[in-house]
Amino acid sequence: MTTTEPTDEVATLCEKLTREEKLRLVQGSPDPEGTATGYIPGVERLEIPPVRLVDGPMGVRAGGFEEGLPATAFPASIALAATFDPNLARRQGAAMGREAKARGQDVVLGPGVNLIRVPHCGRNFEYFSEDPTLASALSAGVVEGLQGEDVVATPKHYVANNQETDRVTVSAEVDERTLRELYLPAFRAAVEAGAGSVMTAYNRINGTYANDHRYLVREVLKDEWGFDGYVVSDWFATKDTVGAANGGLDLEMPGGSVADAFSFDASDEAGGKDEDHPADGPPADADFDLESVATGGMPGPDQGGVFGEPLAEALESGDVSPDRLDDMVARILGQLERIGLLEGVEATIERDDRGGALDTPEHRDLAERIATRGTVLLKNDDALPLSDDDRVALVGPNVDAATVGGGGSSAVTPFREVSPLEGLRNRAGEVSVARGVPEIESLSFEDLLPFGDDSDADQDADDAPEPTVEDAVATAAAADVAVVFVRDATTEARDRESLRLPGEQDALVDAVADAAERTVVVVNSSGPVELPWREDVDTIVEAWYPGQADGDAVASVLYGDVDPAGRLPVTFAPEDEYPITDERRYPGVDDEAHYEEGLFVGYRHFDDADGEPTYPFGHGHSYAEFEYGGAEITTKGGDDTETTLRVPLENVADRAGREVVQVYVRPPDADGPERPVRELAGFASVELEAGETRAVDVELEERAFARYDEADGWTVDPGEYVLEVGRSSRDIRSTATLER
Ligand code: BGC
Repeated sequence: MTTTEPTDEVATLCEKLTREEKLRLVQGSPDPEGTATGYIPGVERLEIPPVRLVDGPMGVRAGGFEEGLPATAFPASIALAATFDPNLARRQGAAMGREAKARGQDVVLGPGVNLIRVPHCGRNFEYFSEDPTLASALSAGVVEGLQGEDVVATPKHYVANNQETDRVTVSAEVDERTLRELYLPAFRAAVEAGAGSVMTAYNRINGTYANDHRYLVREVLKDEWGFDGYVVSDWFATKDTVGAANGGLDLEMPGGSVADAFSFDASDEAGGKDEDHPADGPPADADFDLESVATGGMPGPDQGGVFGEPLAEALESGDVSPDRLDDMVARILGQLERIGLLEGVEATIERDDRGGALDTPEHRDLAERIATRGTVLLKNDDALPLSDDDRVALVGPNVDAATVGGGGSSAVTPFREVSPLEGLRNRAGEVSVARGVPEIESLSFEDLLPFGDDSDADQDADDAPEPTVEDAVATAAAADVAVVFVRDATTEARDRESLRLPGEQDALVDAVADAAERTVVVVNSSGPVELPWREDVDTIVEAWYPGQADGDAVASVLYGDVDPAGRLPVTFAPEDEYPITDERRYPGVDDEAHYEEGLFVGYRHFDDADGEPTYPFGHGHSYAEFEYGGAEITTKGGDDTETTLRVPLENVADRAGREVVQVYVRPPDADGPERPVRELAGFASVELEAGETRAVDVELEERAFARYDEADGWTVDPGEYVLEVGRSSRDIRSTATLER
C-alpha cells in the first residue's frame, strides 16, 4: 500500500499529466481568492479543479488570520471530548463540512487528535484527551461527519506533537509500545473512519522529522493501516526534499518557504523588508532575532519550499523516483474523486450546489448543545442550579466577552457570540456586575510573530475605571449568590508557563468567597488548571472555551435548564504531580523530550503512583443522581468481535439527567511487561428521565484488552480481566470479570 492502487479515472488522468503539472499538484500556492489556508491549483486542461484547504478544528477559518470570514465557532475540542459522545462529534464534523462547502472549501484541517501528554501544552484546547480510547472515538466521529459531507478530513498532527515549546525542532523520544498504545490510536481511528488526508507534525520523532519519517508515514500509516489518502505537511514544516518525498509526504503546504511567503531576506539578521511587499514583510525597523523564531514555536525563515523546483531536481538526479511522484498525485486525485470533484467538472467548478450551509439554526443549536453537554460540574455543594428568584452577582474580568477559543490557526470569527453577561441577563433578567481585576488578554498568533502588530492593545485601552476587588466583594456580598468567571489564555506556538490562573484571579475568587453567601466559579480553561480556592467555594464549573454560544450555554447550565453532562477528559492535579515535571521529559533537554513516563500519562500515572488527583479522569457531577446495578457481560467477544457489557442504570432523582457510563479494564496480574492499573475501554452517554431505569449497553473492542508487544504486535494475554463500571476512573460502581 505504500503505493496506492488508483482508480481507472485517476490512472488515466495521471498518464495525461505532464511532470510540471504533477509538480504543481503536490505543492501549495497562494489562493487567488484569498479564502483558503492552503491551495492547490488545478489543471484546467484536464478539468482538475483547484482545491482549497481550510483550518479547523473548531470551525471553519476561511479568509486569513485577521478577521477571517465568519463561521460557526464551536467549543474547544477538549469540550467536545468532555461530552463523551461520538455522535455529537459526528454532527460537529458534518456541520463544519457544510460550512466549509459554503465557503468554497474542500478540505478541513482537523480534527486535532494529538494526545494530551503535557497539561501546559498551548494547544490542548484543540485536542481531545489524555486517553487514547476517548480521543479515538471523538476523532472517528468528527472524521465521519466531515467525510460524510464530501469534505476531506485532515487529522493532525502526526505524531507526538504534544508540546508547543520548541515544537519545530524538538524530538519526541518515545518507545514503540508507547507510540502504539497512546499516541497512534487516534490517528488509526481517524484513518479507519475514512479520513482522506493526514497532516504531519512539525516535530521530530526519535530524531527524524515527522515529514521525513519513512517508518511512521510509509510503513505504519500507509502500509500497515492501509491509508490510501494523501499526507500533507504542516505549514512550512518541510526541510528536506528527498527525505520528505521518499519518507511518504504527498503534499507540501503552503508552498514556498517562510522567507518567500513573508517576502523577507532570511540572510538579513534584521529581517530585511521587501519594498514591494510592505504589507507582508516585517516593518523596516523591525528588530527581531531570527534565531528565536527558528527554535521556538514557529518555523524558521528557511523552512518550507522543498517541493517544486527542488523536487524537479531530485527527480532529475534520480534521488526521488517518478513512481513516487505519481503516487503522490494519485493519492491527491483519489481524494478529489472521492468527494466528487473529478466528476466531469468544469475547471472553474461551481461549488454552490454541494449542499453548503453557514450559520444555520441547526449549527447554532449544535454549538450551544456541545458547549452545555461538555460543561463539567467539578464540585457542587448545592449552590447550583440557581433558582429564578436568586439575586445574582456576576463577577470576573472577562464577563463582557465570550471565550470563543484560543489563539493560533484554530481561531474562528463567529457570526454571533454571547458573552456571560449577555447570557445571564437573557436568562435571569437583571444581574449585578463587577469585573474585580484587570481583564485577561487573549493571546493570538500575531503576538508571537516577530513582526506582529501590537498596536491594538493600546487602541483598545479605554477610559473605564480600573476594576477593584473591593467593588467585587461589595457586589457579591449584596447578592444571594456570586458567580465568578475566571479564565486562562493560551495560543498555538506557546505553552502555558504554569497551571495557575493568570493575573489576580485567584485572589479575586478568595475575596469573593469570603464575602458571598454562596460562590459559584465558572472556569474557562484550555485544559487542567490549579484551583487553590476549591475548598472555599460551593461550586466549580469547568466550561472550557465554549465558543460562540458561551453566555447562553453557561446560563442554561447554571439555572439547570440542562444537566451539565461533561466528564473530565483530562486529570486535574497540582502542577508538580504530573509525570512530566522533570525537564528531560518536558520541555526536553538538548532538543529531546524523553517520554520516559511511557504509558503512564494522565490517570494511568496517578493510578500507578497511587496519587490523589484533584479531580480524576472521567469525573463530573450531574444534577440528577444515578444508581448502578450489577454489570453483566451479554456478548463475550474475542478475536475481532466486540464484547458487550450491560449495565442497569436508574435515575433516582426527581429530574431528568445525563450519565456517562464508563468501563475500564484491569488487566490480569501477569508476569511480563508492566501495564496500567486500568484503562478506559468503552463508554456510553445516556439521558434518563426522572425515575427512569435503563439497561445501558457498552461495547468494548477486543483491542481494549490488548497490549502492544514489539515482537508480536497487539497481544491479549490469557487471564482474568476485571471490567470496572463507574462514574469516573476513581468512582467504580460495579464490576464484571472476563476470561481470555
Ligand atoms: C498549524 C496547523 C494548521 C496550519 C495552517 C500550523 O501552524 O500547526 O494546525 O492547520 O498552521 O494554518
